[in-house]
Amino acid sequence: MDSFVEEVLLNHEEIVQVCKRLGEQITRDYQGKNPILVGLLKGSVPFLAELIKHIKCDIELDFMQASSYKGVKSTGTVEMLKDMIASVKNRHVLLVEDIVDTGLTLKEVMNVLDDRGALSIEIVTLLDKPANRIVEMYPKYVGQTIPNKFVIGFGLDFNEKYRNLDYIGVLKESEYKK
Ligand code: IMP
Repeated sequence: MDSFVEEVLLNHEEIVQVCKRLGEQITRDYQGKNPILVGLLKGSVPFLAELIKHIKCDIELDFMQASSYKGVKSTGTVEMLKDMIASVKNRHVLLVEDIVDTGLTLKEVMNVLDDRGALSIEIVTLLDKPANRIVEMYPKYVGQTIPNKFVIGFGLDFNEKYRNLDYIGVLKESEYKK
C-alpha cells in the first residue's frame, strides 16, 4: 500500500466491477433514449472512461466544469468554469460525478440544465458521502456509499495530486495536517 494511504476502499478490480454493474443498469434504463452523459471535470474522467465501456446503448458525451465555493452560510455558490457544447433541450441527461459530498455543486448544475429544458436529469456517481450532505440530493446510480473520510485516487485529488491512482484510498490525516 502507498505510504500516504490509510486504507484502500476500492481496489482497481472492484472499481471495474462497480462500473460493470452501473453500466448494465444504465443500459437497461436508457435503451432507445440516446442520453447525453455529462462528465464533471476533472474528477469524473477515469470513472467515465471505465463506465462507458459497460454501457451497451447509444450515448453522447459532453463535459462541464463547476466549482463550489462555500460561503459563511451553508447555501454556497457555484462557479461555472467550462460549459458543455451540446444543447440539452428535450434530451435525457446523465451527470457523471466522482463523488457526491455536500451536493451543492450538483444541485446548481441540475438547476442550470433544468432551466435549459432537459427532459430528465439523473446522476451516476462512483462514490457517495451522504453523511456530509447540505442539500437534498439522491443520486440514482451509486457505485459505493462511503463514510465521511477524505478519499483520493481514480480521479479524486488532494491539491491536484493522486488523480492517477488506479484505486480509491483514504488519505492519511498526517498528509494534510503537515
Ligand atoms: P460537493 O458540491 O460538496 O458535493 O462537491 C463534490 C466535489 O468535491 C467532488 O466532485 C470532488 O471534487 C470534491 N470532493 C468531495 N469529497 C472529496 C474527497 O473525499 N476527496 C476528494 N475530493 C472530494
